[in-house]
This record gives sequence, structure tokens and C-alpha cells, in this order.
Amino acid sequence: MQKTALVTGADRGLGLDLTEQLLQQDYRVFAGQFMADWPELGQLQQKCPRLLELVALDVSQDASVEQAAQWIKEQTDHLDILINNAGISGGKDNTLTVFDDLDFDWTQHVYNINAVGPLRVTNALLPLVMNSETKLVVNISSEAGSIKRSHRRGWFAYCMAKAALNMQSSIVHNNIYPLGGQVLVIHPGFLQSYITGRKNHEAATPTDTAARQILDIIAQRQQYLADEPTFIDHEGKLWPW
Ligand SMILES: NC(=O)c1ccc[n+]([C@@H]2O[C@H](COP(=O)([O-])OP(=O)(O)OC[C@H]3O[C@@H](n4cnc5c(N)ncnc54)[C@H](OP(=O)(O)O)[C@@H]3O)[C@@H](O)[C@H]2O)c1
Repeated sequence: MQKTALVTGADRGLGLDLTEQLLQQDYRVFAGQFMADWPELGQLQQKCPRLLELVALDVSQDASVEQAAQWIKEQTDHLDILINNAGISGGKDNTLTVFDDLDFDWTQHVYNINAVGPLRVTNALLPLVMNSETKLVVNISSEAGSIKRSHRRGWFAYCMAKAALNMQSSIVHNNIYPLGGQVLVIHPGFLQSYITGRKNHEAATPTDTAARQILDIIAQRQQYLADEPTFIDHEGKLWPW
């Protein structure tokens, strides 16, 4: 059967490299397109017209997720891997402490994209995931979501959203593990991506390296299969919740 995956936030950064490397592994990839004007996904589709399907997808909007899910269901009856990758930075909130004026509309915006967004997508597409051989949900989280290793005095929105993503991953895993499914929660490293609005050349890890490491972890997913999900970084180190 044709191996099939969905990657959200696939326009650039880690999502684009995950998409490209899944295509190299002969997956048919549904790539969530958020930035209609950004050229790289279109260029990739010209190289891989047979296996790459672009689908407009804003994970923060119910209607967008419903429409994308409906269209994907018309194209395939299974999704081996769902990678919830789309996410945004906390922006200015990262610099504020509890002694500053926090912007709670922004907190909710970040939470809607980084925590609720992946659940929206999983909720809409889980029937296809459970109809596949692999039955794998991968949530791209962050070390910032680890409560045990919390060290920041700011970053409320981003850290809280990633901690919530970790909790929803655990609940989804509790649902699907008895049915042969699995959730992996992955911190992808400090990435040379666009999460700050421009490409961050100073960061430690190129996104193609992180994508390769993440696909290696996915290939070894059986070793992490247990009655609780695995929180792991791109180098294979386990993280405490
Ligand atoms: N960068 C890091 O060091 C780092 C560290 C730990 C975890 N992560 C996580 O890694 C994942 C990938 O991030 P990245 O570093 O590759 O960032 P990126 O380069 O900004 O890529 C993320 C993509 O998701 C898109 N996006 C934003 N809001 C969206 C929405 N509502 N629906 C769908 N797509 C949306 C972004 O568009 P815009 O550019 O328009 O926002 C961008 O194209 C995120 O979940 C992030 O939290 C990153």
C-alpha cells in the first residue's frame, strides 16, 4: 500500500524539510500550506508532482481544518503518519515576566495555534491515521514544554502552549495505544528556521538535519512503543514531562 503522511506548517523551516525527506522515502505527502505566497512548496511540487499534494491549512481555524480534512479524505483512505509541526513563537511575550503587563489575547492566540491546532488536526484526521498500517501521530513540541526542566522567567505563552500540547499528546496516546496507535512528542532542537520571522542562521541545528534525525526516530518508533507516549529530542535523548 502507498505510504502516506500529512505535515502541517510545511511552507518553510522544519515542515518543509520533513516534507521533502518523506518524499525521498517515497511517501505520498499531504503538505499543509499556510503561506500562499511563499514559493518553496510550489517549487517542490514541480519536482515531485506525483507524490506531493498541497492543501491549504490554517491549524488555528476550525473551518480550514475541516475543509482540508474533507479534501484529504477524498484523496486517500489512510494516513500512516500525521506530523503536527505548525507552530509560532511567543514573540514579545518571551521577553515579559509576571511583573510586566502580559497580553492575554496573544497568549490565547499562541495557545490556539500551538496546543489546540494540533488537536484540531488530529481530531479531524484520526480516522485516516487509524486506518493505516503505521498509526502514528508525531507532535513537534519543544523543550520549552517540559515542566520538570522549566528555567525561564518569561515565555509564558509558548511554554504553556507546548506543555498543553504535551498533555493532549498523552491523552490522544491513551486513546489510540490500545488500538495499535502511537504518539511521539519531539523537541526538534534549536533550529535554523524562520520562527522568529527571519531565518535564524545563529541557531544550532539546520532544519534538514533535524528532519533527518526525526525521520530516523520515526523509523525506530517500535522501540518507544509503550502505554505512555515518548517525549524525546531530535538527538534521541528522552525529556521529562
Ligand atoms: N525553531 C526552533 O528553535 C524550535 C525549537 C523547538 C520547537 N520548535 C517547533 O518546531 C515547529 C516548526 O517550527 P520552525 O522552527 O520550523 O518554524 P517556522 O520556520 O516558522 O515554520 C513553521 C511554519 O508554520 C507556519 N504556521 C504558523 N501559523 C500557522 C497556522 N495557524 N497554521 C498552519 N501553519 C502555520 C509558519 O508560518 P509563518 O512563518 O507565517 O508563521 C511557518 O511556515 C514548531 O512547532 C515550533 O514550535 C522550533
